[in-house]
Amino acid sequence: MSAFSDGLMADRTVFVAGGTSGINLGIARRFAELGARVAVAGRDPDKAAAAAGSIGAGALGLSADVRDYAAIRAVMERVAGELGPLDVVVSGAAGNFLAPAAQMSANAFRTVVDIDLNGTFNVFRGCYDLLRTPGASLIAITAGQAVNATPLQAHACAAKAGINQLVRVLAMEWGPDVRVNAISPGPISGTEGMARLAPDESAREEYYARIPMKRWGEVEEVAEAAIFLSSPSAGYVSGAILDVDGGSQLGDASRTSVRKGLA
Ligand code: COA
Ligand code: NAP
Repeated sequence: MSAFSDGLMADRTVFVAGGTSGINLGIARRFAELGARVAVAGRDPDKAAAAAGSIGAGALGLSADVRDYAAIRAVMERVAGELGPLDVVVSGAAGNFLAPAAQMSANAFRTVVDIDLNGTFNVFRGCYDLLRTPGASLIAITAGQAVNATPLQAHACAAKAGINQLVRVLAMEWGPDVRVNAISPGPISGTEGMARLAPDESAREEYYARIPMKRWGEVEEVAEAAIFLSSPSAGYVSGAILDVDGGSQLGDASRTSVRKGLA
């Protein structure tokens, strides 16, 4: 169920870095459904083309690695040239895997920080002079690891924590013409991220127990938050980290003593 009406995003150009699958593709789709001109980018050109095809006629699917500033800048220049100045830029490319810090290679740590954190800087820095201002909306996709220390996630915790602070600094530097926010999804069903972080039933149960809403989130629910942050309803929202997580980042809702007390 959506509160947003058709045409809300008409005449807007939206670029989603890492928008070729999962949550970010869902965000790109929703902007297109509401009338936006949409482009997505990922490393794999075939996946990018398929994603654009699934979004609809006129969508662009381009290939670049967010770790390569010149490459992602060139992609965004092309999008602005073909679709018009950028109204909304979403930075959602990420890499993740479970690994104990004592066995994690320096390159493994660097790789995740490079994709998530440096990639987000590259996307936002690279789009700055391509934005339509005033009114542009930048959205980073962060995660609960930014604020909750999580075993086997040293790389992702460090990278996502950096993203949260980057968003807050850019919101200070780039206001009033540009609003900069982040969305922090909880466990979202059917995604690559959750397949990697909760690969078996017991891991899925652990996650489930911690969610006050007692269900996994849907890609579409994250997409609705991105629309809100880019809509006139969020005109005074900047520097915010919006949790879309069923309350799962609030603390440990699984404590049986607490739950028994509520029963
Ligand atoms: N456990 C420990 N180390 C791992 C690992 C794992 N499961 N997977 C990769 N690494 C290490 C590699 O061994 C390598 O380190 P090394 O050179 O010391 O051996 C380093 O990480 C980089 O791996 P590489 O495969 O070269 O990186 P890449 O740039 O090709 O791919 C990844 C990046 C590793 C993050 C890859 O999983 C990916 O492309 N992920 C995108 C999809 C995704 O993660 N989605 C979920 C988003 S939340
Ligand atoms: P996903 O399907 O794996 O999406 C990752 C996207 O980023 C793909 O389009 C991928 O395409 C692209 N990508 C990866 N590395 C890239 C790089 N170096 N350069 C450019 N593009 C790159 O993941 P997801 O699970 O939907 O997660 C999406 C976002 O939500 C991530 O930021 C993640 O941290 C965040 N998040 C997810 C969850 C969850 O429940 N899944 C929870 C909290 C936060 P290519 O492989 O072709 O490059």
